[in-house]
This record gives sequence, C-alpha cells and structure tokens, in this order.
Amino acid sequence: MAKNIFYHKSFISIDQVSKLGIKLLFKTAVKMEKIVLKKKPSHILKGQVIAELFYQPSTRTFTSFLAAAEWLGALTIPIHEMATCSSAVKGESLADSVKTIEQTTAADAIIIRHPDDDSAEVASQAAKVPIINAGSGKKEHPTQALLDLYTIKKELGRTKNLKVIFLGDLKYGRTVKSLGKLLTLVDKNLKLFLVSPKILSLPNNLVKEWQNKGVKITITENLAKVLPVADVLYVTRVQKEWFAKENKLALYNKLKGAYDINLKILKLAKKKMIIMHPLPRVGEIAGEVDQDFRAVYFKQMSMVYISEWPYLN
Ligand code: NCD
Repeated sequence: MAKNIFYHKSFISIDQVSKLGIKLLFKTAVKMEKIVLKKKPSHILKGQVIAELFYQPSTRTFTSFLAAAEWLGALTIPIHEMATCSSAVKGESLADSVKTIEQTTAADAIIIRHPDDDSAEVASQAAKVPIINAGSGKKEHPTQALLDLYTIKKELGRTKNLKVIFLGDLKYGRTVKSLGKLLTLVDKNLKLFLVSPKILSLPNNLVKEWQNKGVKITITENLAKVLPVADVLYVTRVQKEWFAKENKLALYNKLKGAYDINLKILKLAKKKMIIMHPLPRVGEIAGEVDQDFRAVYFKQMSMVYISEWPYLN
C-alpha cells in the first residue's frame, strides 16, 4: 500500500488497524453515543467540510456517515449519484473527480464508495485530504467491519475465543473480507466456518492468509452441520450486481435462494448466538427472524447501541 495513505490519515483497509486503535475507537464510540442519547449535537467538527461520494447504492452506510457528520457539527456535502449524475458519465476518471470535488467543496475529508477494488487507494493518491473507504469493490469495507466487531463486543461481551460463521456470498461480498481480517487480528483462537455454495467460496488467498495467522477454518456448504457451535452467524446476500456485470444473471437466480435463515433452522443454534447481516437482505433471512432476540442486524446500525442481551444481565 502506498505510503501517502498513512501520511494523509486515510482509512483504506483493515490492514491499517491496530489493537490499540480499536480500543481507543470503541471508547470514543461510547462517548459519541452519549451525544445522540442526550440529543445534544456536538460541535467537534464545526467548520469542517465532509464530502460523501457514492458510486454505488446504499441505505445504511450513506445515511450513517451523513448523520454522524451532522451530529458532530460538520458541513456536509452528500452526493449519492456519482455514478449517474457526475462527469464520471462523460468519462472523467475517479482521480479527477476526487481532485475536482476537493477544490469545489473545500472538503476536509472525503468518504467514498466505489465498485473498483482499488478505488479507495486511487482516491487517496489523488486527494490532499483524508479518504475514508465506505466500500471498495469486492475487496474491503473497513468501517463496516469495525461496527461489526463493536456489535460482537457489545452483545457477547468479548472479541476472543469466537466461533463465527460467514454465510452466503463470500466471493463477491466485501464485508466478510474486512471482518475476517479484523477478527484474525483480535482473536488468536478464532474458529471460522465458511459456508457458501462452492462457486461463491472465499478467495483462496484469503483462506491461506488467515490460516497462516493461526485461524482454524472449516469450509462447507452445509449450514446445519456447523450452526450448533456458532457464537456469531454472519449472513450476507448473493451480490446480484456482480453477476449482472458478468452476464450471469441465470446463475444468480439459481444461487440466490441457497440459504434461508428461518426460525426452524435457528432451533439448531445456541441460545447465546447473534445473527448479523450488513444489509440489505434480499430474502436470505425470513422476516419472522426479526423478532428473535438473537437477531441484531437492525439494532447494530443504531446510533445508540443498547444491548438487551438477557444473558449478560
Ligand atoms: C454492504 C456493502 O455495501 O458491501 N452493505 C453495507 O454497506 N452495510 C453489503 C451488501 O451490499 O451486500
């Protein structure tokens, strides 16, 4: 990774995260929650300009970054339509768009989501201000991973000795790649269960990398076999957009129903297990599961995270 990423304090990848950094961040998150809880917006970012450039759709990430910047008193420039309404349509490069927006908005930081794997790096080379990666292609979603780890800590009370299932599209999905890296950093006893149709397996280089760090990895297509031991069931959707790009929509239609998390299959799971999903879900978790106290996929995106886990009290 290029040196100037660190120089500019951009956040591109989980590779930049340290254990100490996580501790500080989680402490800060608790302070930030109080701002919202007390309904007293902060002025920490007063006079700062935060631009959001999204080239891919988003409900959760876009609004949570925007709301966070607003609650902290920044001036925000949220652009949701970069892919369709910016000069990208005319062929402007990502680097040029970033340089332009940096000038026209006087941005102090730029949050970016883009379909290219190396987009956050490219943007950070082009910009003079920090870039925050809000999802880069099939490769990384580092802020989602931090939120996921925060959720695990809040709900299970620990980030160690975990047994985690990654379920669904592990080939194209980026959230599992960043979360896997992060768990590998914090949990020396991590056991990972990679559950997907063969064709949607996690890329081999990542499996090897994590195994080399001591993670015990089980690869299977059979969820029922591993569900009983899991502490975390992390569900992902099959990523339709990548199939569409590769003209493989017929294959997508075959794969999209591969797993169906419902109350019946959850009978196999421990009572003290959490069900996570970065969202959006598109059928892989039945609506009836929302009422199960193990389901934390909506709660985890709340600005104020209150754990109601019955077993911790
Ligand atoms: C994910 C993403 O964009 O990678 N969503 C999110 O940001 N919370 C997951 C997805 O789109 O499947």
